[in-house]
Amino acid sequence: MADVGVLTDAAVLIDGNRITWVGPRAEAPAEKNVVEIDGVLFPGFIDCHTHAVFGAPRLDDHERRALGVGYKAIAAAGGGILQSVRDVRSRSEAELESLTRSRLNTLLAHGATTIEVKSGYGLELEAELKQLRVIRRLAGDLRATLVPTFLGAHEVPPEYRGKRAAYVELVCEEMIPAVAKEKLARCCDIFCEPGVFSVAESRQVLAAARKHGLAVKLHADELEGSGGAELAAELGALSADHLAAVSEAGIQALAASSTVAVLLPATMTFLGKRSQAPARRLIEAGAAVAVATDFNPGTSPTMSLPLVMALGVSQLGLRHSEVVTAVTINAAAALGLAADHGQIAPGCVADLAVAAVDDWREVAYWMGADVVSAVWTAGSACPTQ
Ligand code: NIG
Ligand code: FE
Repeated sequence: MADVGVLTDAAVLIDGNRITWVGPRAEAPAEKNVVEIDGVLFPGFIDCHTHAVFGAPRLDDHERRALGVGYKAIAAAGGGILQSVRDVRSRSEAELESLTRSRLNTLLAHGATTIEVKSGYGLELEAELKQLRVIRRLAGDLRATLVPTFLGAHEVPPEYRGKRAAYVELVCEEMIPAVAKEKLARCCDIFCEPGVFSVAESRQVLAAARKHGLAVKLHADELEGSGGAELAAELGALSADHLAAVSEAGIQALAASSTVAVLLPATMTFLGKRSQAPARRLIEAGAAVAVATDFNPGTSPTMSLPLVMALGVSQLGLRHSEVVTAVTINAAAALGLAADHGQIAPGCVADLAVAAVDDWREVAYWMGADVVSAVWTAGSACPTQ
């Protein structure tokens, strides 16, 4: 992960939407359309974990938490995930689309050329489909590549309190088949956490997802370890995400698998927690680590991957080089896209981000600054906003 291959006085050749050559500028084939880069050229960043389709921010949660109120008490006071669920259920598709459009454009302006976007604030068939349709329409006209993920098992909705098995069955028997039939998602995710969905329920939901051709991911071991990472490895999931409370056995299981450990340092920081996922232990054990924003209204309202990269260095203990790998090729792997995303290499999609800095490490240093000055997707420049 620390081997990023930094070139100076380099050139990149693009043909159509793909990179065809990269190497020393002096050896570059002669070209008519030359664009000089002022700064450092990176592979476009890949945000492999967001919940970008939501309505209002959750400011009351933020304030209550600052005053020391816990997760369960916030939920009992009408906050938490279910507040965003009521909000999303009540909004029109057009309204959600316009809110999400501007957020995804902000992520893109900060260098994220590929963005995974989850549903999960509907928790009923029609509202989940509404979120996924918003993602599909935006995928058709935004410059970023969007990867839609179905997260119907984000929480048990209020109308299924006390009959959770019936909700799990609804997700497996109705929602997943409907999502798969309309090809509205590439992946299926679940919040596998004590008090939300158990390891057994997660296995059931992800097996149904697999059966319908969806790749699988898990929110695993976020607040309390429960074997989520082990399940992810066992299932050959694309990723196990969060992992702040992963066990030693979970670390070893991920290291021995091709499942990517997706770490979300902005979330723990925004929640005011002092602990973070054991990034160094994961890397030293041999796991592939990616880093993402977890952009969502409750626990991580940031749209800047460079900010999260700075947190990756200072909070997770990653090297600058490791954090670059974590938001490029490893994040591509967490979405099943590593064959042609996340590198400046021949054959890869020409998604690129320029940081207006002298030393490449500055991209993960100027915490909270707008370091990204230009973005290309599929070989052409995106309008600067
Ligand atoms: O990734 N952990 C579960 N889901 C989100 C939080 C979503 C919310 O609070 O709205 C997360 O942190
Ligand atoms: Fe999340």
